[in-house]
Amino acid sequence: MNILEKIDLQSTPEHIAIIMDGNGRWAQKQGHDRLFGHNFGVESVREVLKAAQKANVKYLTLYAFSTENWNRPKEEVDGLMDLLVRSLGNEIDELHESNVRIMTIGDMEGLPSFCQTELRAAYEKTKNNTGVNLILALNYSARWEMVNAIRKLAKKVEAGELAADAINETSVIEELTTKHIPDPELLIRTSGEHRVSNFLLWQIAYSEFHFTEVLWPDFKGEDLYKAILDYQSRERRFGLVSAQIEKNA
Ligand code: FPP
Repeated sequence: MNILEKIDLQSTPEHIAIIMDGNGRWAQKQGHDRLFGHNFGVESVREVLKAAQKANVKYLTLYAFSTENWNRPKEEVDGLMDLLVRSLGNEIDELHESNVRIMTIGDMEGLPSFCQTELRAAYEKTKNNTGVNLILALNYSARWEMVNAIRKLAKKVEAGELAADAINETSVIEELTTKHIPDPELLIRTSGEHRVSNFLLWQIAYSEFHFTEVLWPDFKGEDLYKAILDYQSRERRFGLVSAQIEKNA
């Protein structure tokens, strides 16, 4: 039986977020430099996106470049920016044809202007598409996002537009970069690391985590399906007890 057939397509996660990790180790194991691994990582992005489309996933968020990644060697940072722009340039027509909508989260203004231009073009071209939303987290960190949200709320309070006591979860969500995006039901991290690394800290409050030893360049559609099956084998209780879940089903 094909692994996709084992998935209950009625209850696939609507949103899957992925921390793509292990490109550097994958390359170094083969005696290459780290960028070699990032290049192969793009192929995994293609395959995982295709698999997500087949599995009814509506939002796929990929942690492509964190705020902390600026501290890597300049050569690697420049290579990653080039790779992003080159990949978008190569793939944009096919992505558009397959009805994918490209979105970004993160501090876009902190990216080199040639990246911003390419990302804006991809966003504009695909903004009316209704298939999978491919969300690239770029120059993103959850603490940056939260500080930003707090600052925006404080300004509203300062301007007398909002009472401090009226701040609730909804008003916080309104100020996050993900405000139009549902929370991920499933978070995947590759390469055997069991950390969240400043990714979507608010949004993963109730997410299921799937950790795999597979390095990102080796992570393919089948691995996404395994993660979805793992997710489907769990019971999500949101703080309730099992009996309450059964009663509400
Ligand atoms: C983590 O591996 C990977 C990254 C920081 C970059 C991910 C980028 C891509 C897959 C390519 C560009 C993406 C798109 C969306 C076109 P690592 O370098 O931290 O690996 P290591 O832990 O083995 O060192």
